[in-house]
Amino acid sequence: MTPIRLAAIGAGQRGMDVYGRYALDHPQEVEFIAVAEPIPQRRDRFVSAHDVAPAMQFTTWTDLLNQPKVADAVVISTQDQNHIAPALAALEAGYDVLLEKPMATTLADCVALVRAAEQTGRVLQICHVMRYTDLFTQVHDIVQSGRLGEIITVEHRENVAYWHMAHSYVRGNWRRKDETSPMILAKCCHDLDILYWILGEQVTRLSSFGSLRHFRQDAAPRPDVPARCTDGCPVEADCPFSAPGIYLQHRPFRAIAAVFGQPEDADLTPYLDWPLTTLAHGDKRPEALRYALEHGPYGRCVYHSDNDVVDHQVVMMETERGTSVTLFMHGHSHQQSRTMRYDGTRGTLEATFAMQNEIKIHDHLTGKTEVIEWFSGIDGHGGGDQKLMAAFVAMLRDGTRAPLTDARASLESHLLAFAAEEARLTGAVVNLDSYRKQAWGA
Ligand SMILES: NC(=O)c1ccc[n+]([C@@H]2O[C@H](COP(=O)([O-])OP(=O)(O)OC[C@H]3O[C@@H](n4cnc5c(N)ncnc54)[C@H](O)[C@@H]3O)[C@@H](O)[C@H]2O)c1
Repeated sequence: MTPIRLAAIGAGQRGMDVYGRYALDHPQEVEFIAVAEPIPQRRDRFVSAHDVAPAMQFTTWTDLLNQPKVADAVVISTQDQNHIAPALAALEAGYDVLLEKPMATTLADCVALVRAAEQTGRVLQICHVMRYTDLFTQVHDIVQSGRLGEIITVEHRENVAYWHMAHSYVRGNWRRKDETSPMILAKCCHDLDILYWILGEQVTRLSSFGSLRHFRQDAAPRPDVPARCTDGCPVEADCPFSAPGIYLQHRPFRAIAAVFGQPEDADLTPYLDWPLTTLAHGDKRPEALRYALEHGPYGRCVYHSDNDVVDHQVVMMETERGTSVTLFMHGHSHQQSRTMRYDGTRGTLEATFAMQNEIKIHDHLTGKTEVIEWFSGIDGHGGGDQKLMAAFVAMLRDGTRAPLTDARASLESHLLAFAAEEARLTGAVVNLDSYRKQAWGA
């Protein structure tokens, strides 16, 4: 079997460590034969892992897409605001595309992508990895089977761990709305997507509240905390967000050392990839990590960064069948998890999506509870990353050309996220029927 040939646009954390990794693990199925990446260390790392020929190494996506078609498809994993331009250009150039979420950072651009995919007839699959996980697939199937009866209320929580919040939304790439997107889009387009998919119905109106409550200068534990944790911070040892504590001593990950068969005080560096690989272009040596903390964004004090995205937000929604749905997103959780509860006329479902997954189904008639539990590992979004890529490759191979998360299916979650941000900022209740019509220019 000849492997499907892919070109990578962006060889950062997702391009290299998720999609690149999949190809290295499945060489009979798929290979990366070209890469576009402006940062030399990242490009070199990708080139050497995938043995990319010199003529197929590009500094930027424009150089790659200016060539006659070089591969069967492209995988675009540039940053949020750099999705729309390469995606439109790749579709025009005749490529099928796997595009990272969010599809784009304005609603008009999301709609333009749906139109471009449908006009060119190319596949545009969005990386809504949650739909490919075992847990959300099972919750979807249970709800859609009618076993819970008519769903009356849904409560869904996106519990971002305190250290992940600090890493991505205070110090890291998604800390500023103007550079990427509001957190409800960046983080919760996944959650809005699975809610829409599981319920199979559209939202008719929504409202939202939230703010940046904690990671700001006036919340610092003392007025004299320095700009960097490594600059002799007087409260470093007592701060859960300490950069050396997270990245060098791995304090948040101590509790999971046993998963790797290690004692709590072991050096966990060899076992941890993300978030360590984001600090120094994949270099995990202690000296490279320390240098990154002393000079780069991840060593900043969480009270002295230039972040402006929220650290908590709630979205209240009503659906077309009258179901009440709440989505809670916050960055102060003890562990990374998504937790949810569906209450229906015949049963209640409670589920936890974390390292240890659990689904409980309580039956109103019999009073019995079925419990399903399994362990899904510490990374890869509970297996969703791998299954998403496997689905993309299988679709290219067998020609079905209908991904579960195509651009049109993915649009709804983005639309809800933009509406939620508008509702949060204005205090208004947003009517989604008019919002949808406006988005399509109707
Ligand atoms: N599906 C998911 O669950 C999931 C999870 C995390 C991140 N993401 C999304 O994936 C995307 C990438 O995230 P990441 O963490 O890998 O970011 P990253 O910053 O590590 O990688 C982006 C890469 O794009 C490169 N790039 C910039 N300009 C370019 C150009 N002109 N041509 C080619 N490459 C260019 C950058 O140099 C960088 O290496 C983001 O949009 C993010 O929101 C999705």
